[in-house]
Amino acid sequence: MSPVTRPPQISASILNADFAKLGSEVRRATEGGVDSIHLDVMDGHFVPNITMGPVVVEAVRPESPLPFHSHLMISEPLRYVDAFAQAGSDVIVFHVEAEGDPHQLVERIHGAGRGAGIAINPETPGEAALPYLEEIDLLLVMTVHPGFGGQDFIADVLPKLRALRAEAERRKLDLPIGVDGGVQNDTIGAAYAAGGDVLVVGSGLYGHPGDLGPIVSELCSAARAGAEAGVDAAGSRS
Ligand code: DX5
Ligand code: ZN
Repeated sequence: MSPVTRPPQISASILNADFAKLGSEVRRATEGGVDSIHLDVMDGHFVPNITMGPVVVEAVRPESPLPFHSHLMISEPLRYVDAFAQAGSDVIVFHVEAEGDPHQLVERIHGAGRGAGIAINPETPGEAALPYLEEIDLLLVMTVHPGFGGQDFIADVLPKLRALRAEAERRKLDLPIGVDGGVQNDTIGAAYAAGGDVLVVGSGLYGHPGDLGPIVSELCSAARAGAEAGVDAAGSRS
């Protein structure tokens, strides 16, 4: 197994934050030392939940200088690319399972001056992302069925993640790969060891009150420890 060379990045999923004070919750993660803010957008159609739209992205945009990753779990992403770009998203991530041509969507997002990301659900084979690896700025591998925070990590996704990282390396791509869903202290090591370097954490962060600095450091140490030990989620040596 090749050594993990990309540093672990923590991306705070605000879906698990206190929505009554979302602005200060974005600041809390920023001051805690995370690397980006992850905004879960759900339309109640692509997934069985409704969360936030461009108006929320725009409202919290002034609260942090960090990159905003808008994770669109919506059926028709093409209709909303411009709105999420104008609202202040830096990276717009859509699902490969959603409607529309991914090549056209990536082109449209780049045309709006933003980074483009593709997300794939746990049951979707890695092959579905291969035609787009050269043109995207982030690949988001779901380790839960999208729709809610606080779910358990699906370790069965790890071989797919490992294969996608190996393919990106084989193609000599400098591709950030995100892992989203159930990433906590006891799973982040396996996710990072398998090749995920953008580690989305929701309940694992916002489940804690006050200063998030120690929590973020603990997560980064757990990620590195996992890579050093080369463990998988089941705890056996791979
Ligand atoms: C789920 C979302 C995730 C989720 C992460 O559909 O895409 O970003 O909010 O939350 P945790 O870390 O609690 O699973
Ligand atoms: Zn997400």
